[in-house]
Amino acid sequence: MELPFAEAWKIKMIEPLRKSTRAEREQWLKDAHYNVFMLKAEQVYIDCLTDSGTGAMSDRQWAELMLGDESYAGATSFFKFEAMVQKIFGFKYVIPTHQGRAAENVLFSYLVKEGNVIPGNAHFDTTKGHIESRKAQAIDVTCDEARDTQLEVPFKGNVSLEKLERVLEQNKGNVPFMVLTITNNTVGGQPVSMQNIRETAELCHRYGVPVVMDSARFAENAYFIKTREAGYADKTIKEIAREMYSHVDAMTMSAKKDGVVNMGGFIATDNKDWYEGAKLYCIPFEGFITYGGMNGRDLNALAQGLDENTEFDMLETRIHQVQYLASLLDEYGIPYQRPVGGHALFIDADKVLCNVPKEEFPAQTLTCELYLEAGIRGCEIGYILADRDPETRENRFGGLDLLRLCIARRVYTDNHMRVIAAALKNVYDRRNDITRGVAIEWEAPLMRHFTVQLKRL
Ligand code: F0G
Repeated sequence: MELPFAEAWKIKMIEPLRKSTRAEREQWLKDAHYNVFMLKAEQVYIDCLTDSGTGAMSDRQWAELMLGDESYAGATSFFKFEAMVQKIFGFKYVIPTHQGRAAENVLFSYLVKEGNVIPGNAHFDTTKGHIESRKAQAIDVTCDEARDTQLEVPFKGNVSLEKLERVLEQNKGNVPFMVLTITNNTVGGQPVSMQNIRETAELCHRYGVPVVMDSARFAENAYFIKTREAGYADKTIKEIAREMYSHVDAMTMSAKKDGVVNMGGFIATDNKDWYEGAKLYCIPFEGFITYGGMNGRDLNALAQGLDENTEFDMLETRIHQVQYLASLLDEYGIPYQRPVGGHALFIDADKVLCNVPKEEFPAQTLTCELYLEAGIRGCEIGYILADRDPETRENRFGGLDLLRLCIARRVYTDNHMRVIAAALKNVYDRRNDITRGVAIEWEAPLMRHFTVQLKRL
């Protein structure tokens, strides 16, 4: 008999979970203004809000904490971390920052000027925020396949080369760089193929435009290249990562995802001018260039995390769990962005809550319903996250309206996946009775979804 699949690790430490009653959750969600970011974590049973900073570190990472060098300048921890980044990505210059958006802030402070245009495959919201707050424009050039959640194509995160070329052609001399996000979080944790990385970079370089890889889930992207793209099955994840980065000019990294640390980030590049320019912003924003907002111990744990999370077994365990949850939703007929991506399931709320008009935010409504059902916290990646158009101030209803259920790395078991699927099924079974959504009572001018206050209609 063939042995079944099992995790590539065993558990050494556990953290108890708390359940609650529906009545408690009704009150808590009302107090949180129907915004799940405002819930207390202890009011949540299974937390699928994000896979960012929520992973479980390995025993080796915890051991590295003890070896941290907390010297202000030139700590051994920095050099250990720098050497690992150089080894995995092949870039010479490395600047640590406290998280991904800090890396964006430091690099974009140097690169982005008012009026610039920065194309990208669905910029993450902080990336878009850092562009728009500098009065520059972020233009989405994701392939059209990503918009059809039921279409099964292997690399739905890809850049549309036609859309990209149009932007480059119309904005010659005004594009300081292009952002290539791997995996493409906003459209469902969907990967970008090696071919598309290469062709995107070639196109940009033909126009003299450098490419910055937004790298939060680069290892998951490499896993999909290995398992889905012809010619990569026999290459290691580390070989694939090296090749991915050989095509581009720089990277910003939220290490809270594929670095499997609770906090951390960095910038890396071979471009000396960019390095010198970014360094000037690192010091006032983040701290001296050998710690950039991180503790020595955390740099050590990150170096170890990058090393072990670019091993095939670790990634296979993770993606297998996400795919297991997807297989349960298939059984219940619940529509999500197909095929399932790396870090999360993205439920197509428009197709579930068909009776809730888009002006009443179906994905946010579904997020609330799932929390009320079982204390499971997902997160809207939809019309509220999309913010308003900076010019017209109209809501941006043009994209997808999704409920994202992120799976933390090495935290929950497959039994928790079964609970999530069953809770979703219960909501799905009464979907036709849900006819009203939510309305905005208060919102911030930029990146509103973290703090928005809503009422139930
Ligand atoms: N880029 C991508 C693709 C991201 O997904 C994130 C964060 C960032 C940049 C910013 O990094 O959080 O370390 O400052 N995404 C998290 C999420 C918050 O839940 O998807 P950060």
